[in-house]
Amino acid sequence: MIIVIDFGSQFNQLIARRVREHNVYCQVESSDISLERIRSLNPKGIILSGGPSSIYEDNSPSIDKSLFDLGVPILGICYGMHYMVHSLGGRIKKAQKKEYGFANLNIIDSYPLFKDMGTGFQCWMSHGDSAMELPKNFVITASTENTPIAAIANHNKKFYGLQFHPEVEHSINGSKMIDLFLFNVCHCSKSWTMRSFCDGAIAQIKDAVGEKKVIMGLSGGVDSSVAATLIHKAIGKNLFCIFVDNGLLRKNEKETLEHNLIKKLDLNIRFVDEKEKFLSGLKDVVDPEQKRKIIGSLFIEVFEAEAAKIEGAEFLGQGTLYPDIIESKSAFGGPTSIIKSHHNVGGLPEIMKLKLIEPLQLLFKDEVRKLGLELGINEDLIWRQPFPGPGLAIRIIGEITTSRLEILREADAVLLEEIRKAGLYRELWQSFAVLLPIKSVGVMGDKRTFANCIAIRAVTSNDAMTADWAKLPHDLLGKISNRIINEVENINRVVFDITSKPPGTIEWE
Ligand code: XMP
Repeated sequence: MIIVIDFGSQFNQLIARRVREHNVYCQVESSDISLERIRSLNPKGIILSGGPSSIYEDNSPSIDKSLFDLGVPILGICYGMHYMVHSLGGRIKKAQKKEYGFANLNIIDSYPLFKDMGTGFQCWMSHGDSAMELPKNFVITASTENTPIAAIANHNKKFYGLQFHPEVEHSINGSKMIDLFLFNVCHCSKSWTMRSFCDGAIAQIKDAVGEKKVIMGLSGGVDSSVAATLIHKAIGKNLFCIFVDNGLLRKNEKETLEHNLIKKLDLNIRFVDEKEKFLSGLKDVVDPEQKRKIIGSLFIEVFEAEAAKIEGAEFLGQGTLYPDIIESKSAFGGPTSIIKSHHNVGGLPEIMKLKLIEPLQLLFKDEVRKLGLELGINEDLIWRQPFPGPGLAIRIIGEITTSRLEILREADAVLLEEIRKAGLYRELWQSFAVLLPIKSVGVMGDKRTFANCIAIRAVTSNDAMTADWAKLPHDLLGKISNRIINEVENINRVVFDITSKPPGTIEWE
């Protein structure tokens, strides 16, 4: 295992994923982790992440300095390198000006992280402070024009520092450097594969659950489907799934679920129709956070009532992923804050006094997909775009009514059909329609109209932490717009959202 210490970098999940891509297990830990805990995890190497702070700021992130006495190889990236230099007796210079973007790295010593990379390459910088004086026994291994100390090494201790970010895609040789750190420095083995994860997870679930019963909410999305399949493989008929129709689902949601999971897996499942309850709970509510909270608590209420009908259930299965856990821990590494209250993490177990089974909690989304394929789930389901727990409620800006839901459902179905036909469905992280709370004037068949407006949202992303608006072809946009206006009643205008995340979020609410 490799541990990434979170000093607040927006890239630290990316570092973990890059490591895992090399089939080495990697975990992100908060900088207040104790030394005993690190020892008990027995890492082969530690990566100190970057972060937005300057080493000289009050409350800049730090970690127990005995970390440097553990005898474990350490790679410091950006702030992580500054922290290493500062802690071991070197000096960091406060920035006069920030260096941001591409720089040409000149290699001084290619051992061990720049092996076979010639005399230099382009790297990606984003920093203010720089190292000025190195601690004892450190040497400079690379420099750039503006940053004389761009990479450092203490070969004896196997401590390395990089001022630039090898984890971002723009850094040429980034993956190679990580490979060299993992295998030539830390001597990791390539044991992190979905096959080994799958076998281990099934054994663990069997061990934890025994002959007892597990209940689980199924949403029809990738995460809960993969988690349910995994749990089903482990305990078979002792898994009881509940599917709540909250009236906020997309067109044909239930049918798709039936087709993909129930027929194939022979899952125990209860369908609960609670459309009315959710709609009346949401009546006149326009505030996004309130919508989320109401849906969250109604879901708990309904789920609890259904679960009570399953006698003797002691466990609750959930498809929680690793990023959900990181995003929900507000104490995590300082700046990682909760932007929106996601209703699928936490909540249920406290009230229900059930023990949690979260077999995907160590996985990133792309790994869940690989696991799903390993489990034999069909590709259509594996590549489904994510759909939020609060459903269409957070895609209807303003009040939610049956007729507004119907409009959005139809417009969304048209959009998805065209995206699929254009072969873009998989490429996009998400593509969906949003119903806006405004009406505008139009003209259709010589008649003046005053009707609703749909926004098209389509984004590319790797993990939903950041996202870019998708550059959909103009003719496709035209086709979607035409079809929505012609086929969906009460829509006379379609607009395209060209906002990235940040500063926008993917969902509109
Ligand atoms: P935002 O809008 O925060 O969304 O950029 C990031 C990703 O999370 C999904 N999302 C949710 N998923 N429950 C969920 O299960 C929620 O409450 C929720 N809110 C947002 C969103 O669709 C996107 O993929």
